[in-house]
Amino acid sequence: MLPTLTTIKEIDRTFSTGDLPILVTCSDQKQYICKYMRADSVSAYKLASELLGSLLAQYWNLNTPEITFVKIRPEHTKQYAIPCNFNVEAVGYKKIENAADITNCIDGDIKRSDKLFRQLLQIALFDFWVANEDRTCNNANMLYVDRTEQLFSIDYGGIFNTNNYQTAIYQLSSCDSIIYADIFKHLKTNTDRQIIVDKAKKYYDICINKSRGLSTVLNSLNIPKIWNVPKNVLVTKINELFEKQWIEDCFANYVETLRENF
Ligand SMILES: Nc1ncnc2c1ncn2[C@@H]1O[C@H](COP(=O)(O)OP(=O)(O)O)[C@@H](O)[C@H]1O
Ligand SMILES: [Mg+2]
Repeated sequence: MLPTLTTIKEIDRTFSTGDLPILVTCSDQKQYICKYMRADSVSAYKLASELLGSLLAQYWNLNTPEITFVKIRPEHTKQYAIPCNFNVEAVGYKKIENAADITNCIDGDIKRSDKLFRQLLQIALFDFWVANEDRTCNNANMLYVDRTEQLFSIDYGGIFNTNNYQTAIYQLSSCDSIIYADIFKHLKTNTDRQIIVDKAKKYYDICINKSRGLSTVLNSLNIPKIWNVPKNVLVTKINELFEKQWIEDCFANYVETLRENF
């Protein structure tokens, strides 16, 4: 069960990125970046992807913001023309403090450390497995926290080949991967590629096994009824992630993409 919070004051800010998310303060006094249902482009299926991607990232032990459902009160958005359906719960990501967006012009602001490189490799592998088409060299969807040397994975609205719930999941093209971005070149170490691949394989097997827990969690997950997203559609999609062929092909794709960039 995820909590459902309510906004308590006027929204704090808007973002001009693709989904036009908003920063709100909720009843627990914490701030959340919200993705909400929009008549034009953001469907309930995209919100479901945000939810599932975020839960899977937790199984993978990635740094990823906590999520919750948020009811955005109409009186709190009056000063902005937010194309929001107020009766529908939004997905809220707890704000990561002191975080900077990773952009494609990497400068000395980002430390070079094994810890950061390891996190980047894990995020890259995760993306292949969930077919995340929305983390590319132009759009890292990652936040950097300098003090703790953490990379946070954000934004799961592009998993399952950008919310393709109609057809079977298919492989990312390698240039869709963050491995092609400058952040990868910046953090890359001299470690032998085969050592990286061997470690990644162990991590991958563990994460996939842990992620199987999602099927049970999904049974009791309080997905808002108003989203009108049948659980069986989500279960079918998630099951595709655990097909033996898919698991093998994703890893092979990851290894090949690494090879192209080493
Ligand atoms: N949990 C968070 N903590 C701090 N900032 C965030 C968080 N989530 C998103 N942001 C900020 O909001 C921006 C847009 O978020 P994102 O999830 O990528 O939305 P979109 O789907 O519109 O691309 C990010 O680039 C980042 O600056
Ligand atoms: Mg984004």
